[in-house]
Amino acid sequence: MTQAQWPEPPGHDAAGAASEAADRGRSLRVRGGRRLEGEIVLSGAKNSALKLMAASLLADEPSTIRRVPRIADVFTMVDMLRALGAKVTFDDGELRIDPSGPLNERAPYELVRRMRASIIVMGPMVARLGRATIAMPGGCNIGPRRIDFHIRGLQKLGAAIEIEHGFIEVTSDGLRGAVVPLDYPSVGATENLLMAATAAQGTTVIDNAAREPEIVDLAKFLMSMGASIHGAGTSSIEIEGGHALHGAIHEVIADRIEAGTYLLAGVATGGDVTVRGLNPPCLELFLNKLRAMGVQVDEGDRTIRARALGALRPVDVSTLPHPGFATDLQAQFMVALSLAEGTSIVTENVFENRFAVVDELNRLGAGITTSGHHAVVSGPRQLTGSVVEAPDLRGGAALAIAGLVAEGVTEVRGLHHVDRGYEDFDAKLAGLGADVTRVEAGGEAGGAGP
Ligand code: UD1
Repeated sequence: MTQAQWPEPPGHDAAGAASEAADRGRSLRVRGGRRLEGEIVLSGAKNSALKLMAASLLADEPSTIRRVPRIADVFTMVDMLRALGAKVTFDDGELRIDPSGPLNERAPYELVRRMRASIIVMGPMVARLGRATIAMPGGCNIGPRRIDFHIRGLQKLGAAIEIEHGFIEVTSDGLRGAVVPLDYPSVGATENLLMAATAAQGTTVIDNAAREPEIVDLAKFLMSMGASIHGAGTSSIEIEGGHALHGAIHEVIADRIEAGTYLLAGVATGGDVTVRGLNPPCLELFLNKLRAMGVQVDEGDRTIRARALGALRPVDVSTLPHPGFATDLQAQFMVALSLAEGTSIVTENVFENRFAVVDELNRLGAGITTSGHHAVVSGPRQLTGSVVEAPDLRGGAALAIAGLVAEGVTEVRGLHHVDRGYEDFDAKLAGLGADVTRVEAGGEAGGAGP
């Protein structure tokens, strides 16, 4: 394998702050009115790849992870693994992580600040080193995102935890298996505990565990490393700990949120879009909501085709942990609901402050009002292009979809949010026939505009 480096991601090079500022200057210019049509080959799931990368720290041999998306959050996790002492290389779509050298116990603030999901290294580090010092993640645009379940769970496994000077210090003289009930099926807490429990002596049971497909993917990777795990994908996961883990080769599952985003882009433009690479049941509830809106949805062997054949109908949506409607598709779905004939109610149950995009959508002409964790979406609306600012990753994708149907030109600023989680976003949209142009800081157009 060659030692080719990752192409240095924008904002993640030595220039640091200056480059980060340039990063924030990136926008997507969208000329609305084109009907999207065609097929998208899905990338690997962001929310799986990041955890698999962290899990590779549990072995003292190299692991290879395939179909890792080239997105900013993955580059941040590469930086994190390197900061912890692992060697990371990339070659022809494969990420190779060698954690066999001496590892550091300290996850720096700069990286945790850049990506809150960095705290996922906590479980593997305690398991491998018996200690971890992780910068406390701050809040973020979609709410405070606490980590109390992670901490209480690790304490149940026998770890001692202190929080001082903005860092969480976790120490353990040997984790012990325990029954760990979660107050809420948190994805990150389930994953951190699952990884830590592989090193705990005896049996651990995580009750009220999250059931996301990415948890199943993580468990499969851990099992291929030699872990003994039962029940991943159900709300009770049992881990028989204490087996030494070895390196493994694994391919990341397809990104279901990316799939939903492109299907919605197709639906909003009255188009015909197929996504390839995903097991359709991963998106069952979402697909049923599309059907209820009057969209023709066909499920095939790892393909999903959505055709908007007529007027869209309103539907009510409540986000919930999997298998409920994914909160990560809520903002994009609201754009389609804005085009439906009637009133829809969207209830956000997973995160606080997850309607940050509503003001920007309304600037494009959507008619959305919010009260607490409810949003009332009135349609149909004729959207009109304007300059808008992406408040976060999924909100940015929603604004791009709105731009695709808006009259005239929409400029979505803050494209760095979208680049955190969507691989080749503009190129993939252009491949479906969208008129999109990536504008780099300073106004230079580049990228995938046709
Ligand atoms: C993950 C996903 C994110 C997705 C979310 C819910 C990654 C990198 N991110 O985030 O895209 O939107 O799942 O599907 O995989 N909570 C606590 N205490 C805790 C942990 C969580 O109160 O210790 C709360 C959070 O504030 C939030 C809710 O539980 O309100 C859900 O959070 P969680 O499932 O942990 O989401 P993440 O793992 O952060």
